[in-house]
Amino acid sequence: MNNYHIPVLLQEVLHYLNIKPGELYVDCTLGGGGHALSIVRSGGKVLALDVDTDAILYVRKLIEKEKIHDGEEITIVQDNFSNVKKIAKEKGFFPVSGVLMDIGVSSYQLGESKRGFSFVDGPLDMRMDQSLSVQAKDLVNGLTEKELTFLFEKLGEERFAKKIAKVIVERRKDHQIESTGELAELVKESVFRSDHDIHPATRIFQALRIAVNDELHILEDSLPQAVSLLKPHGRLVVISFHSLEDRIVKRAFEQFEKEGKGKVITKKPIQASEKEVLSNRRARSAKLRVFEKKE
Ligand SMILES: C[S@@+](CC[C@H](N)C(=O)[O-])C[C@H]1O[C@@H](n2cnc3c(N)ncnc32)[C@H](O)[C@@H]1O
Repeated sequence: MNNYHIPVLLQEVLHYLNIKPGELYVDCTLGGGGHALSIVRSGGKVLALDVDTDAILYVRKLIEKEKIHDGEEITIVQDNFSNVKKIAKEKGFFPVSGVLMDIGVSSYQLGESKRGFSFVDGPLDMRMDQSLSVQAKDLVNGLTEKELTFLFEKLGEERFAKKIAKVIVERRKDHQIESTGELAELVKESVFRSDHDIHPATRIFQALRIAVNDELHILEDSLPQAVSLLKPHGRLVVISFHSLEDRIVKRAFEQFEKEGKGKVITKKPIQASEKEVLSNRRARSAKLRVFEKKE
């Protein structure tokens, strides 16, 4: 296991992708390479994408150590999975036996305060793709109170959206909010929560992260691309971490089934065992869904 990111639901992913030696697979979210390299070790050939420079560098070093060759057992491309269809075809990964999407942020991104995803003090950044021009601080300091409220309601499902937006706009009259620590503290001070299981600013951070990285639109747009790459009986496996994403995956899979593209294998999402959650808390909110392409 690496400490960059512990892959969630690893055995389940390998099981549902039904890895066969020599067959082709696409991992849309390389991260720390946990899933991708397990597929390689099981004999599959992998095309792996990630937008994050740090993830790409980390896995390149890892495969060098393991004497896995880029361009042979694994082909690594730094790009957004919104381009997966085009990239897979260019790289000869068409049709494929399986596509994996393990969406969201990695433990590395969350834990590295300079990336701005965590409540620990760091710049309000939150870009997974470091070349994007808009950062979380641009939204926090640039949107109107109404726009912030809308953002927190829609993408954070935050009950206190209006109140929090108001407090942010008040603070901005004094100075720009530039750090995650200040924003987290501000949210914490401005609302009373009875739920102590998650940090009071979790939903606000979620909303900003989704907006900065345009996560929901990209997911919606990429699922049909992933299905189009599959060969008959090939499988798309998606792991999501919050209800907004899971709803998109569930509806898209139902729609694919209606359109006669194949069938949903998981009527209910697969979740991590208690044992896995005990060793990796991040797995507690993971939901895995599988779609199989028709014959
Ligand atoms: C949860 S981690 C994946 C972890 C990986 N499965 C592992 O086992 O180490 C998600 C990764 O996907 C990347 N990512 C998220 N959205 C992306 C997108 N639209 N295109 C490409 N990469 C994306 C993130 O940068 C992050 O490194």
